[in-house]
Amino acid sequence: MVATGLQINKTENSKLSTVDFGDIPFGKTFSDHMYVAEYKDGSWGNMRIEPFGPFTVHPANIAWHYGQAIFEGMKATKHTDGTPMLFRPELHSDRINKSAERLAMPSFPKEAFMEAVYELVKLEKDWIPKQEGSALYLRPYMIAMDEFIGVQVSKTYKFVIFCCPVGPYYNKPLKLKADDSYIRAAVGGTGEAKAAGNYAGSLLPTKLAKEEGYDQIMWLDAKENHYIQEVGTMNIFFVFGNKVVTPSTDGAILKGITRKSLIQILKDKGMSIEERKISINEVMIAAKRGELTEVFGSGTAAVVANVAGIGYKGDMQKFDIDAYKVAPMLKDVINGIRSGRIEDTHNWTTRVV
Ligand SMILES: Cc1ncc(COP(=O)(O)O)c(C=O)c1O
Repeated sequence: MVATGLQINKTENSKLSTVDFGDIPFGKTFSDHMYVAEYKDGSWGNMRIEPFGPFTVHPANIAWHYGQAIFEGMKATKHTDGTPMLFRPELHSDRINKSAERLAMPSFPKEAFMEAVYELVKLEKDWIPKQEGSALYLRPYMIAMDEFIGVQVSKTYKFVIFCCPVGPYYNKPLKLKADDSYIRAAVGGTGEAKAAGNYAGSLLPTKLAKEEGYDQIMWLDAKENHYIQEVGTMNIFFVFGNKVVTPSTDGAILKGITRKSLIQILKDKGMSIEERKISINEVMIAAKRGELTEVFGSGTAAVVANVAGIGYKGDMQKFDIDAYKVAPMLKDVINGIRSGRIEDTHNWTTRVV
């Protein structure tokens, strides 16, 4: 299935044999090939898969200065029968195009995106770790390429996808700081886009939180500093006995694909799941009363990450992660679907054959 004139140029120097799949730090090991496409004169072309390696960028590249840069993060896993599988790739295609729209960048055609991830994963199938919970992480991104200083929409772009074999993102439960001095995103801003600048703005507050002994910031809304948004690179869920609550996406929160999947799994299990505004006061009070039984984050990289404590205005509430039931169940189902151990009743996976 080659609809775009995709050219495939294979490496003659595979690095596969040098990788220790039993010990892969997140995001530091890169597979043999990458996908590249270029945009000029109003259309995408020169689509190719080539050996992974650096490319030259002009010092005046407009993306360095004005930040037209967006990305995605998605995973390929192996079915227990050995078939590579992609998890909900069409949603990642849709989301990168939503991000592109917000940053006045061109959309990348869905057929080209699907072909790119499919052909790349087919070529890199031996790079997919076999252990459940590990995966080949795919990083699609788009950057402006005009060589020009001046705030304006670039006319040229590069679209790239590279791959990293990865193990679990967080290997310990998280301590979160609910921060009321910095914000991540305001309604009307770029918070719903996976824009590089959103992450740059989060670095200083996160660094300060880490100096206080926290792992991540739990962001509060920009207007009232009161309603919970999300955490680092994860959406957030709260369990109150039999009821699960996650902040409704209000325009400033990234619409997580794992979040969407977990909501569906909870519905499938007949559990009560509410998408609504949830304030930090509600969370801290319920935690104090013992009514808040679980807190966990969701994301492609982290899958489901347990939260062991939340700090807010000097108050620290801790959670008994050993008693968690909902978070481990959700993690098991997502990982099970990704490995074929659990039936994929919603057709979330695409087999790469
Ligand atoms: C800011 C932010 N929120 C949430 C998520 C979780 O989204 P997903 O489940 O699609 O990976 C991510 C990761 O992509 C993220 O970067």
